[in-house]
Amino acid sequence: MAVQTLNDLLGAGVEGRTILVRADLNVPLKDGEITDPGRILASAPTLSALVEAGAKLIVAAHLGRPKGEPDPQFSLAPVAAKLAEVLGRNVQLAGDVVGQDALARSEGLTDGDVLLLENVRFDPRETSKDEAERGKLAAALVELVGDDGAFVSDGFGVVHRKQASVYDVAKLLPHYAGNLVATEVEVLRKLTAESERPYAVVLGGSKVSDKLAVIEALAPKVDTLVIGGGMCFTFLAAQGLSVGSSLLEESMIDTCKDLLERFGDVIHLPVDVVVADKFAADAEFRTVGAAEIPDGWMGLDIGPESVERFAAVLGAAKTVFWNGPMGVFEFDNFADGTRGVAEAIIGATGKGAFSVVGGGDSAAAVRKLGLAEDAFSHISTGGGASLEYLEGKELPGLSVLEA
Ligand code: 3PG
Repeated sequence: MAVQTLNDLLGAGVEGRTILVRADLNVPLKDGEITDPGRILASAPTLSALVEAGAKLIVAAHLGRPKGEPDPQFSLAPVAAKLAEVLGRNVQLAGDVVGQDALARSEGLTDGDVLLLENVRFDPRETSKDEAERGKLAAALVELVGDDGAFVSDGFGVVHRKQASVYDVAKLLPHYAGNLVATEVEVLRKLTAESERPYAVVLGGSKVSDKLAVIEALAPKVDTLVIGGGMCFTFLAAQGLSVGSSLLEESMIDTCKDLLERFGDVIHLPVDVVVADKFAADAEFRTVGAAEIPDGWMGLDIGPESVERFAAVLGAAKTVFWNGPMGVFEFDNFADGTRGVAEAIIGATGKGAFSVVGGGDSAAAVRKLGLAEDAFSHISTGGGASLEYLEGKELPGLSVLEA
């Protein structure tokens, strides 16, 4: 069955109705300040379309991973303030998720009002493995919207989670895919179903174990798989190289050996790395060959020759998917690898390639490095969600919309 979209809901009319939207407003914070509002900006079009059409809007979202109880450091207060600024209208923040304050505020909503519920993960039922428990929270969310309500799923970054506000609530209310979810799915479908060759995938980030499933799924389907970031050292170790005190997942070395045996012709590893004497922005650093990492030094970025080689293959690609930074881009001295690869992808995009940046840290890197977001074909808001989609897994928050 086809998924109903926001346009279907708007066509049915939302004036005077209370609409619950699950958004992914899980933005990075530093000292209480939002450092990258990307997900709030990406959520705005669906929310604006609904309020402008006269809906009473209730937004459910999470921030971080609180332990199922209120915890001020995970309050959505900074998000509510930013959302108000982005939408250009008042956004109320409920003091709880589905408690007395949320209920009273939801009853007081008038057309065009926006109510953000407090971090939905403050309620332990949100992430419970017990379906009945999650069902109770979903029912309480339904109570907030009342008889005439509807549910819009627009938190793409969280559709891989079988959680009450993502999955269970969709079973209880008429449900629709918001514009962000619809766009993200369309882009990822294009990557899986109609990718033009050559197809290059760039994977970085710290852990091989996080990316193992996507490497297994994509390696047989792509022409080039570039591996950088902290995870490359386990691959270098699998080649028998010494990696000093670089990040290493010992338990994954055999797995990496096996991947190199099977997919050695598509996997590209760095040939040089920038090593540092400590993990710090002001660490001493130098560039060495991948086979010459000194004892006691750690690789914090890929080196310039690696960037050049990766850029050469990326420059020829017609489809590129990138997930995970090449180094510790948050420290200026270790940002060149990520910047170089990003610029190569931008170059390929300029020549007509279809490029997708897969959420999380790589999206944050694009913005932190001051690169133009529209220089890529698409920047996904979902890190884990986009990877799981590409792995071919069923995403509960999407499949529930089909029913
Ligand atoms: C994300 O940051 O990828 C999403 O918001 C999902 O968060 P989670 O990994 O804590 O479920």
